[in-house]
Amino acid sequence: MNTLLLNDTTEDIEKAAKIIAAGGLVAFPTETVYGLGANALNPSAVDKVYAAKGRPSDNPMIVHIAEISDLERLAEDITKDMLILAEKFWPGPMTMVVKRKAVVPDNTTGGLDTVGIRMPNNDTALEFIKLAGCPIAAPSANLSGKPSPTTADHVIEDLNGNIDAVIKSDDCRVGIESTVIDMTGATPMILRPGILTQEDFSEALKKRVEMDPELNKRPDGKDFHPKAPGMKYKHYAPKAQMIIFQGDRQGVLAAIDTERTERESAGEKVYVIIYDDDMQKNAARRFFSNLRQADKEGADVILAAALTEEGVGFSVMNRMLKSAGYNIRNV
Ligand code: TXA
Ligand code: MG
Repeated sequence: MNTLLLNDTTEDIEKAAKIIAAGGLVAFPTETVYGLGANALNPSAVDKVYAAKGRPSDNPMIVHIAEISDLERLAEDITKDMLILAEKFWPGPMTMVVKRKAVVPDNTTGGLDTVGIRMPNNDTALEFIKLAGCPIAAPSANLSGKPSPTTADHVIEDLNGNIDAVIKSDDCRVGIESTVIDMTGATPMILRPGILTQEDFSEALKKRVEMDPELNKRPDGKDFHPKAPGMKYKHYAPKAQMIIFQGDRQGVLAAIDTERTERESAGEKVYVIIYDDDMQKNAARRFFSNLRQADKEGADVILAAALTEEGVGFSVMNRMLKSAGYNIRNV
C-alpha cells in the first residue's frame, strides 16, 4: 500500500474523509499526539487499526468527536458532571470514559461496556471528523510500544506503507496523550495522567477526583492492574537503553555529567534529557520527540533527569519511567 501524504487544506482533508468513509485508515494531528483514525462505528475498519499498529485487541480505542452534542449519540446515562467537564475542557486533551450505547461496536471498546470519548483541540482534526461524518476511533499513530508521534514524520517512520494516508500539519503542542477520566463511578477517577490534572478536574466539578492508585506503582510485571487496559503494556520504548537519575537536582546534574563523560570516553553515544523542573508543560511537549531524536542519532544510552512527580510532572514521569523500563538511579 502507498501511504498518501496529505496537507491540511480543505481539499486534502476531504480526501482523507472519503478514505474514512470507505473503511480506510488516516493518521491525523491533534493537539496531544497524532492519532491513527478509522470509522469508530465500522468494526472491520477498527480491526485494521489494531493490525497496522500491532496492538493487542483488548486495548480500547478513544473515539473522537467534533461537537459536544455527538456525546449523546455514543453515550448512555449522561450526567451533569460529564456536561460540566465537556463544556469546560472540550475541545481539549481530556478523554471521558462513559457508558457506551449499542452503536459503538465491541471492536472499538475492546469488549468493554464503556467508551472513551474526546473532542480534540485542533482545527484540522475537527474539520476532518466533521467531513468524515462519523466519530473517529484513534489510538496514537505509532507502532505499539514505540513513543507516541508528535509530527507527521514520526508517523511515517512507524507506519509508512501500512496505512492509507497521513494529514501533515502543525506539530502537536501538548506532546503527551490526553488525560483519561472515568466518569462511570460514584467518584470520577483519572485512569491516565495528562496535561489536565486531578486539581483541574476537582476545581471544575467542585468535588474530589481520584487517581487510579495503580498509577503510583512501579510495576515489575506481576500484581499490576491499572483500570485503563493500555496502561499495563510496555510503552514508549526507545531503542537506546535509558537511565533516569532521581534525587536532589544538583546531585542529579553532576551524576549525569560524570556518567556521560565515562561513557563517551568508552566510545558510547550518549543522549541527555534534562528539562527545567519549573517548565513541565515544555517537558511534556518535547519528551516523545526527544526519544525519537535519540534513536535517530544512534544513541546507545539516554541519561534523563527526573521531574518532580506532581501535577504535569507526574504525567511526564509516568511516560518517562515506562520508557526507561523503570531503570532508576538514585543519587
Ligand atoms: O491524546 C490522546 O488521547 C491520543 C489522541 C490521538 O487523541 N490518543 C491515545 O489513544 O492516546 P491510545 O489508544 O494510545 O490510548 C488510549 C488509552 C489507553 O490506555 C486505553 O486503555 C484507555 O485510553 N481507554 C480507552 N477507552 C477506555 C475505556 N473504555 N475504559 C478504560 N480505559 C480506556
Ligand atoms: Mg498510545
